[in-house]
Amino acid sequence: MKVLIATDKPFAKVAVDGIRKEIEAAGYELVLLEKYTEKQQLLDAVKDVNAIIIRSDIIDAEVFDAAKELKIVVRAGAGYDNVDLDAATAHGVCVMNTPGQNSNAVAELALGMMVYAVRNFYNGTSGSELMGKKLGIHAYGNVGRNVARIAKGFGMEIFAFDAFCPKEVIEKDGVKAADSVEELYSTSDIVSLHIPATAETKESINYELLNKMPKGAILVNTARKEVINETELIKLMQDRVDFKYVTDIMPAADAKFNENFAGRYFSTPKKMGAQTAEANINAGIAAAVQIVGFLNDGCEKFRVNK
Ligand code: 3PG
Repeated sequence: MKVLIATDKPFAKVAVDGIRKEIEAAGYELVLLEKYTEKQQLLDAVKDVNAIIIRSDIIDAEVFDAAKELKIVVRAGAGYDNVDLDAATAHGVCVMNTPGQNSNAVAELALGMMVYAVRNFYNGTSGSELMGKKLGIHAYGNVGRNVARIAKGFGMEIFAFDAFCPKEVIEKDGVKAADSVEELYSTSDIVSLHIPATAETKESINYELLNKMPKGAILVNTARKEVINETELIKLMQDRVDFKYVTDIMPAADAKFNENFAGRYFSTPKKMGAQTAEANINAGIAAAVQIVGFLNDGCEKFRVNK
């Protein structure tokens, strides 16, 4: 059996070494395609492999068509919006993710971005503190829970809304459960986004919702750019000079944000929330273990397609 790691944004070497150990211990071969620039390189690399480990790499119908021997794709991470699940199912390929394995890394970055924003992007002027501020966590999954845990240490007042998570689960962590997404935004000085990109959430973060936030509001996005209605966010930031946007996923209109909102906008050059050695090791090795479990024993835990 042949397992491919296909990562446009590579794992730390220590993670690749760990993955190799798991794959070779099972008697399989590991091949590596990192930092590829053309889709054709991916199409060539998948031709004879039985399993693929990816990150945000796009696995669409064309890739499945090219991968004649493929049985399983594991997205080493949480969000699997980069994989065409219907095409996978049509090709009889199992798709999994590795939930929770990189969530602390993303949560730490979210808090780091909050500090950066309240301290005026470290420009030397007098900023403010996170202590006592109201934090709204939009979606209370693995990352959201880690954000809450860390934010408690900062002394923030924490609220969360998650349409799929019972209020009791949120409240047992000492977090206040908002009754609606509107209430979360009206209440929170800072909102941290942790929703996945789905048909329902795409462009759902719009003018109307963001305009409910109090004066001096900050939106922190370590989730996906697709959930933001960029045109409406730009309009909101034009109308509200108090509003700051900090993101780990560069907007399509990055130049426009930079040009118009200096001192109120920041984006990392490349998504780096999960870009730590620890997250790479956790998610990468989990992916390898899941592949071995699937190929050896048919274990389908963490399968995300039908
Ligand atoms: C995820 O969905 O797991 C995170 O967004 C991290 O994605 P990455 O592996 O592309 O950094």
